[in-house]
Amino acid sequence: MPLAETTAISLPDDDLLFRLLRQIDAAPEASQRVTAEAIGVSLGRLNGLLRAASEAGLIHVTDSTGTDKRHRFSYGLTAKGAAAKARLVDAFLARKLNEYNALHAELTGRGAKLSLSRRTSPMAAPLHAPIPELYVSYDSAQKLKGEAAELPSWDLTPRQVCDLELLMNGGFNPLKGFMSRADYDGVVETMRLADGALWPMPITLDVSEAFAGQVEPGQDIALRDAEGVILAILSVSDKWSPDKAREAAMVYGADDLAHPAVNYLHHVAGPVYLGGAITGIQQPVHYDFRARRDTPNELRAYFRKLGWRKIVAFQTRNPLHRAHQELTFRAAKEAQANLLIHPVVGLTKPGDVDHFTRVRCYEAVLDQYPTATTTMSLLNLAMRMAGPREAVWHGLIRKNHGCTHFIVGRDHAGPGKNSAGVDFYGPYDAQTLFKEHEAEIGLEMVDFKHMVYVQEKAQYYPANEVPEGDTILDISGTELRRRLREGLEIPEWFSFPEVVKELRRTSPPRNMQGFTVFFTGLSGSGKSTIANAMMVKLMEQGGRPTTLLDGDVVRKHLSSELGFSKEHRDINIRRIGYVASEITKNGGIAICAPIAPYTATRRAVREMIEVFGAFIEVHVATSLEECERRDRKGLYKLAREGKIKEFTGISDPYEAPTAAELVVDTEGMDVDYCAQQVLLKLESMGLITA
Ligand code: PPS
Repeated sequence: MPLAETTAISLPDDDLLFRLLRQIDAAPEASQRVTAEAIGVSLGRLNGLLRAASEAGLIHVTDSTGTDKRHRFSYGLTAKGAAAKARLVDAFLARKLNEYNALHAELTGRGAKLSLSRRTSPMAAPLHAPIPELYVSYDSAQKLKGEAAELPSWDLTPRQVCDLELLMNGGFNPLKGFMSRADYDGVVETMRLADGALWPMPITLDVSEAFAGQVEPGQDIALRDAEGVILAILSVSDKWSPDKAREAAMVYGADDLAHPAVNYLHHVAGPVYLGGAITGIQQPVHYDFRARRDTPNELRAYFRKLGWRKIVAFQTRNPLHRAHQELTFRAAKEAQANLLIHPVVGLTKPGDVDHFTRVRCYEAVLDQYPTATTTMSLLNLAMRMAGPREAVWHGLIRKNHGCTHFIVGRDHAGPGKNSAGVDFYGPYDAQTLFKEHEAEIGLEMVDFKHMVYVQEKAQYYPANEVPEGDTILDISGTELRRRLREGLEIPEWFSFPEVVKELRRTSPPRNMQGFTVFFTGLSGSGKSTIANAMMVKLMEQGGRPTTLLDGDVVRKHLSSELGFSKEHRDINIRRIGYVASEITKNGGIAICAPIAPYTATRRAVREMIEVFGAFIEVHVATSLEECERRDRKGLYKLAREGKIKEFTGISDPYEAPTAAELVVDTEGMDVDYCAQQVLLKLESMGLITA
């Protein structure tokens, strides 16, 4: 429906409205005379246009301080106006392309079939024409930013920042914002937007109940990054509570928490979704590897400049080794195309090698490719690990980045095993689904060949082309991690020395990594005594800095304002967990000795630490009777008399661990023996060497 028909106020036709909005966006400070000249109307006509556009909420007066009556007002686009402009740009470009196609047909007798539609064929956009973005001009952005400060604002999660960046820069073209309910329903059920265009992944803005309660459709909200910088305005058109179990089953194939995106959906994502058009104000700021990050239009311009017409994209979330180099090189040769290494640096699968390390590895491998034919660019995508649907999504994103071919392999974007220990998707499901939609995606699929090293030939071959009788050498991901962990050899035929060096820097052998020993048990169980003995023994060995975070000491220095309610105990333990995770991250040993009576909080601390190193939970299982008999601080007596409230074991719960790495019983054992048991455990885990 043309925009002019959507409002009762008499707006000009779309063409004139587009010129007006474009001019105001480009030069909001311009006088009315200049604006009138730029869009080719009289001053009188301009006044009528400005009034109609203001009344329709597309523009507003931003300044009225001029002295000359005729030049008194400055106008700026509202968020609604910016969204209208983006829609009109699409319509304008589509019309121009039709005109071009008609002219082409007239002059050559053949249709050029250039198209702005989503159903572009692979060969239809060889010139890498720019694609629409959702940003307004710099001047408009400055103005909108000022106004947005007054709007209700939502602090975006890391995943939402990634999604927003790709919405704004056209990476998620044709999406114009976070999905409306109709688009979401279509995508979940049939992989199609409400207008029928192929799109396999819900891109939704999930928020808390509390925030959703403050927002109604028709309202604008500001979207901010973690530092509070306003990145965009969302003109909310839809608000609903999704059926997450249905979303999980339809999009990820199963409502199973073993799938990282399903776990995210149920445990991290908010319960309410907001949908609506986005007005882009500024790109999220990245301080890392800036020169290697490109928007779709920047990549398109690069390809145009270098005259690259066919480009095969390689998506990856892992470091590249020799086999990857061989396969990408072959894929490019096969397709007679240039190669774009396009690694994901947004969010990948939990447990992946961090992107800083990976990018250093990629840069090292890049030297192995001919510079004239290969380039690398980083993609700030938040992956969902949705296998087949994800492959189609990756294809659409790469098409937006100007690519013509896409490498899809075995188990593309696979999440691993489900809770029954079976793979979520079949190994070739992604390739099958991609092939089915290849024409619509607009990219040609290039089969990813599993490359193996053939010892006799000292060369890589696709696994199905190995000469008979020859010896195949291969190292799996799991085996590679084991070798890194244990500091074992990684042969030159497998990877490049520079890559191995980088990986060793971030994954030193276990006996050089940081770790946390977390004692838990009742007050007076002996936690602190064993922890102290252990610390001295570790310091005797030397090598890594060691810190003891004892319950009493922490309460004195870190948590002096806290009491012993469940809420306060949780805060206390999370603080200990945070400090221990920092120590572990930096290669030290943290020894913690709080009571930590709650299972869920101990699990949360474990998760915080295991990102950086080992977590060894030691249950000091001295019985309540024995602790009370010892009563070294006289606290049990006071607790029994009711003089200390909420005392663990007496008037407050202690949830004993059921899966601790070690259980020590202090009754009848001396401290030295208990500490020795812990040290032996650490040794058996490879964390300390004899
Ligand atoms: S918690 O639950 O983990 O936050 O407790 P924690 O910080 O480890 O407790 C440290 C010491 O506080 C003394 N204390 C109490 N313990 C339990 N319940 C109550 N109400 C209480 N009030 C004081 C107790 O001596 C703990 O020391 P430890 O080292 O465990 O004997």
